[in-house]
Amino acid sequence: MIKKILCIGAGYVGGPTMAVIAKHCPDIRVVVTDINAERVRAWQSGMPPIYEPGLDEILRASLGKNLSFSGDINSAIADAEMIFVSVNTPTKMFGHGAGRAADLQYWEQTARSILQHARGETIVVEKSTLPVRTAEAMERIFRSGGRQSRFEVLSNPEFMAEGSAIADLEHPDRVLIGSAATTSGQAAMQELVEIYARWVPRERILTTNVWSSELSKLTANAFLAQRVSSVNAVSAICEQTGADVLEVAKAIGSDRRIGPHFLRAGIGFGGSCFRKDILNLAYLCESAGLSEVARYWEAVLEMNEYQRQRFVQRMVVAMFNTLAGKRIAVFGVAFKANPGDTRESPAIQVCRELLAERAQVCVTDPKALESGRRDLGDAAPGLSFESDPYAAAGGAHAIALLTDWPEFGKLDWERIYAGMERPAFLFDGRNHLDPEKLYQIGFNVYSIGRPQRSRL
Ligand code: NAD
Ligand code: UGA
Repeated sequence: MIKKILCIGAGYVGGPTMAVIAKHCPDIRVVVTDINAERVRAWQSGMPPIYEPGLDEILRASLGKNLSFSGDINSAIADAEMIFVSVNTPTKMFGHGAGRAADLQYWEQTARSILQHARGETIVVEKSTLPVRTAEAMERIFRSGGRQSRFEVLSNPEFMAEGSAIADLEHPDRVLIGSAATTSGQAAMQELVEIYARWVPRERILTTNVWSSELSKLTANAFLAQRVSSVNAVSAICEQTGADVLEVAKAIGSDRRIGPHFLRAGIGFGGSCFRKDILNLAYLCESAGLSEVARYWEAVLEMNEYQRQRFVQRMVVAMFNTLAGKRIAVFGVAFKANPGDTRESPAIQVCRELLAERAQVCVTDPKALESGRRDLGDAAPGLSFESDPYAAAGGAHAIALLTDWPEFGKLDWERIYAGMERPAFLFDGRNHLDPEKLYQIGFNVYSIGRPQRSRL
């Protein structure tokens, strides 16, 4: 039985995943390492570098007992029986496949460190999202060393979402484990099954071959993103026809074969993974000579871009065909409510497009203001940040609500309206607020895929 686990990569996935494993396996020693010393220190101090509901409690329960964080990667590798690799796999920005393929440099560095420092028999678990057949490449690296150590590579992709990471890890819809069909591959897979089986019902632990597991992760994200693009495409038709996207989505989602999730129309999907994973999937298809399949998935990304541009275009048209010199208060810069994360946030792109129209943009966000400031650091003058939403909206011609923070629903909208220029516009990019109530206050309200409520 496995008694010593290591995770390389103490990020959004590595930290929470290992905290949950440590909680359910008090007899297993869990170590998490990272090349980023500051991150390691933050985790070790019990003040994690990321915010996830429930994470602090779970961390406190195991930290200093069977869970620790360390910057000494090499010794930790030498000591581990099972190593999860949870390093980042961003889109490659240079050379062959630039802008599409996954950048595997961090992953390969990790494979080489494991080869160099591992002792005896080690099970290596791919946790990062990787192109299909990466496990095979990893095995080739391991075989190249001519060392005595033996390695078994498993694929165990992570399906948690930010903001609900702990709940998703505690009660996953499924855990997926891909392994080789060999006796040693099956034995390694069984070791990992036994770990998850401490808290996940057996019927939710799916075992497949390695490539199915790798491909399932990429395509699961592509399917989720495709649903968002589909409902956004419907929202465009709604705006032209008088249909209401909320009513249409409810009608569609009531069909048990379709289901209600991921049918919320908005300014498009963001986050660190959907775009990168679809680009990676499309690149994989091209490399396999499947250009029609690649184009099919790329259309999901094109619709996502179109939705964002359409939102800004609608603002321009509604506001008498010019935004130049007008103050626009942007409510929310995070890619979704709850994590203070702005990676690939559609709100960042909307801000850039508003600035390109020469608007004066003032951004407010309950948790992601600093991160938004960093992402927009190179943007033109005309951009400001304000932690108080009432101050952000003061003197504004329009509000663009871009993240569905619950806090925004609780604001005093009459007070906000009182401080704005006339006519006051509200563009709800997440269908988050009650348009009728805002209209009664005096706003001209434009929601996504819903009839506009305007006196103009
Ligand atoms: P992250 O950037 O938050 O964390 C990755 C960590 O790996 C960083 O702290 C980095 O310093 C560290 N690292 C990089 N190279 C290293 C090396 N050679 N040695 C040690 N540490 C190293 O990334 P993340 O969001 O945790 O994502 C990790 C993987 O999981 C990605 O492949 C991603 O696609 C996938 N994933 C992410 C999520 C999510 O919600 N963020 C969900 C499911 C899957
Ligand atoms: C997503 C997946 O949900 C996870 O299963 C996956 O593990 C993860 O990516 C990953 O691989 O990184 P995440 O990006 O954290 O998780 O957040 P989601 O809740 O999926 O939201 C992604 C984006 O889609 C957000 O910008 C959100 O606002 C948008 N969205 C989501 C919509 O516009 N409409 C919806 O109906 C749902």
